[in-house]
Formats: sequence, structure tokens, C-alpha cells
Amino acid sequence: MTTYAFSSESPRDVEVGLLIVPVFEGGDPGPGVRETRTADAYASARLTGKKGQTLLVAKRRGERYAAEAVLVVGVGPRDAFDPVAARRALGRVAGQARRFGTVATTFALAFGSRDAAAAVQAVAEGLGLGSYRFERYRSKKGEDADLKKITVLGSSRWDAKPLKESIRRAELLVEAVCWARDLVNTPAGDMSPARIAQEAQKMARGSGLTCKVWTEPQLKDGGFGGILGVGQGSAHPPRLIELTYTGAGRTQPIALSGKGIAFDSGGLSLKDPNNMETMKGDMGGAASIMATMKVLATLKPKINVIAAIPCAENMPSGTAQRPGDVIKHFGGKTSEVLNTDAEGRLVLADALAFLAKKKPAAIVDTATLTGACMVALGTDIAGAMGNDDALARELTSAGADVGEAIWQLPLFDDYRTLIDSSVADIKNTGKRYGGAITAAWFLAEFVGDIPWVHLDIAGPSFSENGNDLGPRGGTGVPVRTLVRWILDRANTRKPR
Ligand code: BES
Ligand code: MN
Ligand code: ZN
Repeated sequence: MTTYAFSSESPRDVEVGLLIVPVFEGGDPGPGVRETRTADAYASARLTGKKGQTLLVAKRRGERYAAEAVLVVGVGPRDAFDPVAARRALGRVAGQARRFGTVATTFALAFGSRDAAAAVQAVAEGLGLGSYRFERYRSKKGEDADLKKITVLGSSRWDAKPLKESIRRAELLVEAVCWARDLVNTPAGDMSPARIAQEAQKMARGSGLTCKVWTEPQLKDGGFGGILGVGQGSAHPPRLIELTYTGAGRTQPIALSGKGIAFDSGGLSLKDPNNMETMKGDMGGAASIMATMKVLATLKPKINVIAAIPCAENMPSGTAQRPGDVIKHFGGKTSEVLNTDAEGRLVLADALAFLAKKKPAAIVDTATLTGACMVALGTDIAGAMGNDDALARELTSAGADVGEAIWQLPLFDDYRTLIDSSVADIKNTGKRYGGAITAAWFLAEFVGDIPWVHLDIAGPSFSENGNDLGPRGGTGVPVRTLVRWILDRANTRKPR
């Protein structure tokens, strides 16, 4: 458990293991450098403040500052230093802070009072997210325990009250994002659909959220043919998780869904071993929606949010669905399953139809849906597609604000016919090209005329090599975007 604090004490006085201070490009010293007299050491090491140029300075005898050591971090040009850059720069070095036990930083002091709230939050998030490790399965725990305390230093001229709220928000977000990462990183052998549902129930208990879990027989009664079809090859039966947050009485809710494929082997359209390696992460969408709801339960914005999260394990077996099978989704639409590896859209179809029936003001789903989206946008950018450009802009701009890259791809009209089926209403694969868009067209069939955006997170949900904000594995994208979007919406719209 890490505790988080805002403090306006001087960088010289803060008693911590490690104090992290910035230097801008050109050797331009940031806050805390003068107080710790670390500029000369940094310059002597031939470092100039370029991004990634760090120097760890152990305290010399006779030094008057309280920290045991100072990490001087190059952060690039001063005029490009915004909260997003600060979050990333601290995320990159946060792992090194672990062995010191406690950490403080002067990074927020580089911002003016107008940006203080955003800066303080981003700085705390960078340290929290960047120090995340997944050690549950090591017989010897890592050498370093989790950070005991993160302190964000600020100016005594700043009003501390809103900044303490920023810290609190950061703490909640880090906790939720890291929970989503844990869910993704846990091997699929220990994270079945039932287990994902248990985790949701455990989270919801006592939080003010309601959680209803549909079991396989209940899904049969309810007509959820997509979830059942994908799950029927597995020894671990599927689930549908319904989470409800009520923050605005009887007003129209917004709706969320996330793909919860506990493991995606491809089914009978089996993946090759390489592509299967990281498929425990195919429930990253589900995890991010659960984590988003967890944050809402604590922050209590004035808005209603419902979530329907379909969970299934996609396995090949004697009971698995076959290419060519036709399934009937919730609400009655049929689809021809030509490729059992295009399973995410099949489970989401049920969930989206289920949500659409409740007439929400908007639906957002997120899913590790297509390799094609990674071909289009690379590993770091989520694709946004939907039937409402204004809603898509809300999400891409929320993403930009929090440093999660999202780019809109067109739901191009002419591509709709690529999923026409010769036997059913639609088929679950298009042609080779434009796969992210045909997948979105499939989903679009199930939302009716409700404003809807789909976020394809196949790339950014799982980091193969680690990135600025965390190690290899689940990233927790797009939790921070979704929370930002929902809070913005709660603050700017009168619910009907
Ligand atoms: N879960 C995969 C998509 C994926 C690929 C996520 C790589 C993360 C990393 C999805 O279920 C899938 O298999 N999609 C197929 C669809 C195709 C069969 C139409 C794909 O993208 O190849
Ligand atoms: Mn698949
Ligand atoms: Zn999948």
C-alpha cells in the first residue's frame, strides 16, 4: 500500500529516500536543483537535460538537504513540458525509486498556479503508475517492496485544498489502473470468466455499485447466443457482468462495455503459438471497464453509468462452435461465424444489444478487438470508431488530456456490405483489409441509433516491452480516458 501526499515544504526539508528533480534541455535547472546543489554533478556527467538523461546523486557529507539521494532527470525542452510530459518522465524513473522506499518530487513546481491541479495529479500518477510491478507469481519477491509513500511538492502560495483532491484522484486512478493491470497479468489459468466476475463482485461489495452476474443457464434463458457460442468450447463457462452506478437519481444513464475474453486461443480457427502468447490479455477491455466503475464508486460524480461486460474463454474442443455455425444474439439478430477467432465482436454484440435496449444517452465499448487496428495505428494508439463524430471527439480529446493516444478511424459506409452473409443477417469477418473497420461495422449492428463509440485497444492495452508508465504486461488503458470522459460529462451536461 502506497500513501500519497501533497506538501508545500521546501525540497530541502522533505525527508524521503529519493527526491526527484527536473532539468530542462540546455542544462536549464528545474525546481529543487539549486536547493540540492546537484547542477554541477549533472553537468559534470556531460548531461544536458535531454529526455531520459538521468543522474542519481547520493548525498555527500555536509549536504544540508534531508533526502538520502537525489535523482536529477532530464525532461527535454521547457516549453514542451506539460502535465502529460511530466507524468511520462516520472513514470520512466519511478521504478528506481522503489528501493528507496519513499519518494518526493519537485516536478509540479515547474508549473504555474493555474496548471497546479492538473500537474500535481499527473505527477502523482506518473510515480504511482511507473512503480507498478507484478510479482504475484515469483517465489522470491522482487528485491524492492512497493513504495511506502509518494510526496508531491508544491508551492506554499498554492491553495492546498484542491491539490489534495488532485492527489486523491491520482491515488484512486493509480489504484484502479493497477488493479486492471493485475487482472490482465494474471495467467488465464487463474482468471476464468467466473473469476473475473468474482473480482467484479468483490470490488462492488460495499462500494455502492450494484453487481449482477449472469451464469450460463441464465444466459441461455436470456438469449445471449454470442456469449454462449464463444464460451461453449471451454471447460470454464461464460458470464455476463452487470455493474450499475447511480449518481444522478432516475436520469438517463451512459453505458459501457468491455471485451472479456479470458483467453483467446482462436477456437477452432486456432491462432499460431506466437500470436497466442499474450492472449491472457484479451480481457483488457473488461478489466478497464471494471476499474472505471471502481473509480466512479469512490468519486461519485452526478451521472448514472451502467456496464455490461461479457466474459468467455475461446477454446477449441469437441463442444466448440464451428466455422459456419450461425448464432442468434441477444435481441434476435443472427450471425454466421466464419472465423471463430473473430470472437470478441460476437460476445460484445450481445452486450451492446442488451445495453441499447436500456436506451442510454451514449454507449462506449472497449476491446482488444483486432490485429488490423495494430497494423493501422501501431501498438500505442487506440482506434476509435462509431456512429457519432461528436462523441468520438469527446473520447479522443479526453484521451489526449490524460496522455492515452486515441485516433478516430472512419466507419466508412461502403465497407458495411463486407459483412453481408449468404445465410445469416451478418457474418463475423470481412475481407483481409480494413479489419478494424469491418469489426466496428459488426458491432454497429447492435447499438441501433444510440450514439456509440468503440475503442479498439488491441495495441495499447498490453505492452510487449514496457513503456514510460509501466513494465511489460497490461497497461490499464483506457481507464484514465474513460474516467476523464465521464467526469467531464457529469460536469458539463444536465442529466435528463
Ligand atoms: N484478440 C484478438 C485481437 C488481438 C490481436 C488483440 C493481437 C491483441 C493483440 C481478436 O480476437 C482476433 O483474433 N482478431 C482477429 C480477427 C480476424 C480473425 C477477423 C484478428 O485480428 O486477426
Ligand atoms: Mn480472436
Ligand atoms: Zn480476441
